[in-house]
Amino acid sequence: MNEVHAAVHRIVPHLTPKQDTGSGTAPSNIALCKYWGKRNEALKLPLTGSLSVSLGNLGTTTRIRLSDTDRFLLNGQEQDPGHKATHRLFAFLELFRENGQHVQVESENSIPMAAGLASSASGFAALVRALDNLYGWSLDIRDLSVLARLGSGSACRSLEHGFVEWHKGEAADGSDSFATRMDVTWPEFRVGILTLSEAEKPIGSSDGMRRTLNTSALYHSWPEEVARALPKIRTALHQRDFPSLGQAAEQNALSMHATMIAAWPPILYWQPESVQALHQVQALRRDGVEVYATMDAGPNVKLLFLEEDQTTIQETFPGVKTVYPFGH
Ligand code: DP6
Repeated sequence: MNEVHAAVHRIVPHLTPKQDTGSGTAPSNIALCKYWGKRNEALKLPLTGSLSVSLGNLGTTTRIRLSDTDRFLLNGQEQDPGHKATHRLFAFLELFRENGQHVQVESENSIPMAAGLASSASGFAALVRALDNLYGWSLDIRDLSVLARLGSGSACRSLEHGFVEWHKGEAADGSDSFATRMDVTWPEFRVGILTLSEAEKPIGSSDGMRRTLNTSALYHSWPEEVARALPKIRTALHQRDFPSLGQAAEQNALSMHATMIAAWPPILYWQPESVQALHQVQALRRDGVEVYATMDAGPNVKLLFLEEDQTTIQETFPGVKTVYPFGH
């Protein structure tokens, strides 16, 4: 048994389905303090902690049913088993297989795949909830978070709504690397998604992280940046100090991109439209509008702002999709 199987077996009480089908839903999340770099690739253990906001009703709903072969349908369309995301999903299902039992996975995503909008996060979190339902385990959030992490690191932050922190943990087996919800409610908090390109990213997060670690001379400063940003973001959230939160989040995102731009071959997710949006955000701030930007492993820009500036943001960025993390 390898270390990933061992991690699963430590958590799940049995692998006998209690029923033929199971379902689960999970929100997508956007990191305010990013996860970029692993200390253990197989167990998806991060080098640093991270903190995100869940995207309310934007995410994934998954139904699984026992079947003769593994199948994956996304938004009603059968996915090619040779596709990277499908391959990863089937490899994950392998961890829960006993007696050659296969499952069909049907997911509905309300976010574009592989466009840097963390669809793998809500995907694995919803799948883990569906597995919990199928097998009748009734696991707690901590265990569900650890299991989701084994699918995709950022998925461990998608079991909860609101602001969520992933504690990096110290244990070699990853048992203390999971995410918890922060006790902060901020109904005026908004996330704006600028879908500038739905093209699949040229390099996925896992490969991007590995390449950054191995080749970027700037990566050594990343844990220091997170050590500065995390406490600042936590405090800003507790105090509802939006400018302080926005500044720390934008600086953290740009610092992450700086480490990867300095990798070789360079990882440059930014498109001209991304840079234009970043400039527009800075121009708005010069005009006194409290808006900040964050970006992940893709060309899209996400805006952070409060309800009071929503009209201005929507006028400046007509294509923006406004997300209400605490409901409408
Ligand atoms: C830039 O969770 O997709 O979105 O653990 O290798 O599956 P793996 O990576 P993934 O990485 C997300 C990276 C990020 C930042 C973040 O969400 O914290």
